[in-house]
Formats: sequence, structure tokens, C-alpha cells
Amino acid sequence: MTISNEDFLRLAKIVKAKYGLNLFEKKYLVESRLTNYVLDCGFDNFTEYLETVYADRSGIEMTNMISRLTTNYTYFMRESEHFLHFSDVFLPDAEKTKKEKELRIWSAGCSYGNEPYNLAICLNEYFGDRHRLWDSKILATDISFNALRMAKQGVYAEQALQELPLPWREKYFNRNTNGTYQVTDELRSNVVFKYHNLMDEIGFKKQFDLIVCRNVMIYFDEQTKAELINRFYDATVEGGYLYIGHAESAPKDIKYEMIQPAVYKKTMKGEN
Ligand SMILES: C[S@@+](CC[C@H](N)C(=O)[O-])C[C@H]1O[C@@H](n2cnc3c(N)ncnc32)[C@H](O)[C@@H]1O
Repeated sequence: MTISNEDFLRLAKIVKAKYGLNLFEKKYLVESRLTNYVLDCGFDNFTEYLETVYADRSGIEMTNMISRLTTNYTYFMRESEHFLHFSDVFLPDAEKTKKEKELRIWSAGCSYGNEPYNLAICLNEYFGDRHRLWDSKILATDISFNALRMAKQGVYAEQALQELPLPWREKYFNRNTNGTYQVTDELRSNVVFKYHNLMDEIGFKKQFDLIVCRNVMIYFDEQTKAELINRFYDATVEGGYLYIGHAESAPKDIKYEMIQPAVYKKTMKGEN
């Protein structure tokens, strides 16, 4: 089923304003991702379907649609340099400096949960028995309800675990009878999944020691990205870090200091 240019442009403008996503060059993607759903809902053209989405005051139809339009590609140990930095620099630093033993980590744009669970595994591996002395929380957010639902379940095909070291697979996953693997309850309890649109104000109560936002801003334009990074900066504690995807460029006037490619730090007052 095809979407008219008029319907497509209106949709692309709304999605860009509300979610930051740039669909302007992606007419085919919109058609291929939505056609079956539109037909299943009983519409025989995009115009009627989109009118229903725009008219729905609850916003549920819009969220259902956006879940189908996001690209959720992710995998364990993606850009492993970040997990090395996390285990070899971030956590040892935190252990030395955080007297109150509190850690707040945010995986922003977490997709199916591989990223926050990967961070939770590294956290457990680093602290071992000392972990119980810490109040550590990993918040994981996304705009795709579908991705969030799957992330909460934490069920993955065997193939998805291949990049994880075998001892981690054995320690942090249980094999289901159908051959899939589920993250252990204990690890799942380390991660809180929530809906959050990165275009909105960051209203979380506490600032974060680490914000991980990788392969999300790649879909945003320069201004949207710059504004988001400023919001991240305000939501980061002094001495805290931001990880972005290696394929993503940071704005020139970024307030964080670059520590290594794709790793940024909010320097402490009085520190250079
Ligand atoms: C390609 S995945 C990246 C997942 C993971 N961070 C990684 O690097 O493997 C991008 C995710 O960003 C989410 N996303 C896109 N726009 C968003 C927005 N405005 N607010 C929150 N999440 C968004 C998508 O739903 C998708 O799950």
C-alpha cells in the first residue's frame, strides 16, 4: 500500500517535532513497516488510518505507530570499548570517590535491553560481593513500547548471546525449554525500564553518574542533538560521564570534555 506525498510529509513533520526522528527520506520504510498494521486495523488506505492516529487524544495510537517506525537494532557487547571504559575506569573511579556508595546509570534509548543488562553484568562482575554495599540503579528508557516489553522480559535467542563470554552466559541467563535464554531474576531486578521520550524534559529526581545514549542521536538533526546533549549535561553529576555511539558526532560547543572517542566527562568544578 502506498502513502500519498501529502500524508507522508505531514507524518514526517509530526514525527520529527515530537520524537526527533528524521523520516523525510524514508517513505518506503514508512510504507513497509505500517502497511500490514494499517490493513489489520481494518483501514484500506493511509489517510483514514493517520486521521485516526491524529484524532486519538490518548496518544496511544501515536505510540503504537512510533513503536513500528523506530529502528531497534542492538546487540550485547556492542561497541565494547564502552564496557571496557565502564569496568576499567568508570567503576574504579566511582569506588574511590563516591563515599555515599550511590550510583545512578541511565541507558537512554535502550531498545531490547541488551545495553542496560550488559552494564548490569559489568557492574556485578566488577563489585562481586561488594555490590550489596552499594545502592546502584540502572534506568533504561525508550519510546518503543514493543522494545520495552521485550526488554523487561529479557528473553533472547541463543545466537544473541554469542558475543558474551561463556561464564557470563552461564551466570546471568537461564535456558528456557524452547531453547531461548532469559536474564536471571536477580539481574533483571537491577534494571528499571520506563517509557521516556528524549525530546521531553528530563524530569528524573536525581542526576546520573553515567548516561549511555548510543546509536539514538544518529537519527536526530544537529539542533535536536545539541539540545539533547545540553539536557544530558544538566542531568549529569559533576565528574559524571556520557557515552555516545562511535558513529555519532558531538556538537562543537559540547560542554562535556572528550576523554576518548565517544566518551565524555562533565569535569568537576576546579578541575581542568
Ligand atoms: C538503534 S537502537 C540503539 C539501542 C542501543 N542504545 C544500542 O546502541 O545498541 C535506537 C533506540 O532509540 C530509540 N529512540 C529513538 N528515538 C527516541 C526518542 N525520541 N526517545 C527515546 N528513545 C528513542 C528507538 O526506539 C530505539 O530503540
